[in-house]
Amino acid sequence: MTDALNAARDRLVFALDLDDAADALTVARDLRSELRWVKVATRLYTRAGPSFLAELKAMGFRLFLDLKFHDIPAQVEGACRSAAALGAELMTVHACGGRAMLEAAARGAARGADEAGIGFDPRVLAVTVLTSLDDSDLNDIGVNRSINDQVLALAQLARASGCGGVVASPKELPLLRPNLPSPFGILTPGIRPTGAAVGDQKRVTTPADAIAGGSDWLVIGRPIRNAPDRAAATRAILEEMAIAMGR
Ligand code: C5P
Repeated sequence: MTDALNAARDRLVFALDLDDAADALTVARDLRSELRWVKVATRLYTRAGPSFLAELKAMGFRLFLDLKFHDIPAQVEGACRSAAALGAELMTVHACGGRAMLEAAARGAARGADEAGIGFDPRVLAVTVLTSLDDSDLNDIGVNRSINDQVLALAQLARASGCGGVVASPKELPLLRPNLPSPFGILTPGIRPTGAAVGDQKRVTTPADAIAGGSDWLVIGRPIRNAPDRAAATRAILEEMAIAMGR
């Protein structure tokens, strides 16, 4: 089971969504032996900055920096270069920034890792359509095709532009996985272990179903963060993932 749990650890990303850096470090430290990956997003990064990332790296965590860049290509290239130089192995951009921006993101990430002498290939993950948007929201911004068509088109654009994967709802796995085979990555939030509180997530999937659907990485926050025993909650998720990965 140890090997299977370690394989599951490579695919579980803990969303460190706290506002206070000291609290976040305490939680991360407690989970150091159970977890490999942490995700830091805009809310915490805006307060805590690069030195906070360095502390997480020093604890041995692999880093997903979820800042969802969307700007002119030169800006996004520089941002991804900096993210990789800070040690982020995964980072996000909005696919609707277009081909040149996506290509620039991939270029910047590769260059940043190279320059910093980091021994990994960073991956730029593209966000397609935010799950907070519905068809009428798309219409408001002049997109007249369905959400599914838009998600698939943007995911294909991301792949063609050199991105390493996409962020997707687990409900989009049947649409994306057959059209975008590995090694193109799919990372899914919106996961709830059986019996866990759903919170504000409207459409959730279990870890086992996300693995079965072809998700490469599962992002999970509150079911771990709010658990009375965080290490035990993490372990239960890893066990569920490991069993599904063995099927
Ligand atoms: O706490 P919870 O497990 O819901 O956290 C999920 C994480 O994934 C959060 O960091 C959230 O911002 C992120 N996310 C999401 N849904 C999306 C995109 C990202 O929940 N569509």
